[in-house]
Amino acid sequence: MPESTIVIRKYSLKDREAVRKISVETAFSGEDRHNIVTDDEILADILTLYYTEKEPASCFVASSDGRTIGYLTGAKNKKYMQRTFNAKIVPELISKSITKGIIFERRTLNFLLHLLISFFKGAFSTPDFSRDYPATLHININKGFRHRGIGTQLMFSFLDFLKTNGINGVHLATASENAKVFFVKLGFTVLFEKRIDYLKYVTGRSMPYCVFGKKL
Ligand SMILES: CC(C)(COP(=O)(O)OP(=O)(O)OC[C@H]1O[C@@H](n2cnc3c(N)ncnc32)[C@H](O)[C@@H]1OP(=O)(O)O)[C@@H](O)C(=O)NCCC(=O)NCCS
Repeated sequence: MPESTIVIRKYSLKDREAVRKISVETAFSGEDRHNIVTDDEILADILTLYYTEKEPASCFVASSDGRTIGYLTGAKNKKYMQRTFNAKIVPELISKSITKGIIFERRTLNFLLHLLISFFKGAFSTPDFSRDYPATLHININKGFRHRGIGTQLMFSFLDFLKTNGINGVHLATASENAKVFFVKLGFTVLFEKRIDYLKYVTGRSMPYCVFGKKL
């Protein structure tokens, strides 16, 4: 069978559904997401809505024979992204969760409870890296298309885009065990590392939580 042609390009509205689908399928480091959050629409909103609605120009996709099979959602300024997410996206999510009734479901409540406990215990707090590394990103490739250099190509496109826009650095946090080799190979260094246990009630184990950074 001939190799498919991979194209890396800017995100556009026609990629929206595919990006949302990949985001939920790759959430929670491969754990069965339905044991954690019951509603895919809300989960996709949490993972992608800021990027696709507020900063689509900083997002890239990979397509294979016309099908979107991976994405990189980026933000030029993580602080601005976080503020906008809290002020604009969170109220939208709460309202949608109430309307759909999922906020009252046992699994969702359980997840929110563990997330909140971890949050208040400072589990997700990290030093502020935004002065030296202002931008941030998420990257996900469909399972069947990994290890073919597609993630690397998406990263090169985003890093070039940041440099063109005069951004002096980028950082990201991930709980992915496998991501370390990938980011280190791209010249990122580990800025901060710890373990988090907000999903331990489902997985029975804590997970690594690592912040990677690269100056541009
Ligand atoms: C991590 C991810 C984005 C990498 O994309 P990819 O297209 O598979 O990566 P590439 O083919 O460009 O790999 C480049 C190098 O990274 C390293 N690498 C990539 N995935 C790896 C893995 N799972 N384990 C160990 N090393 C890995 C390898 O050294 C690889 O070089 P090689 O192929 O010469 O050995 C992709 O595997 C993915 O979407 N994983 C699930 C979600 C995730 O972890 N996202 C990152 C956190 S936000």
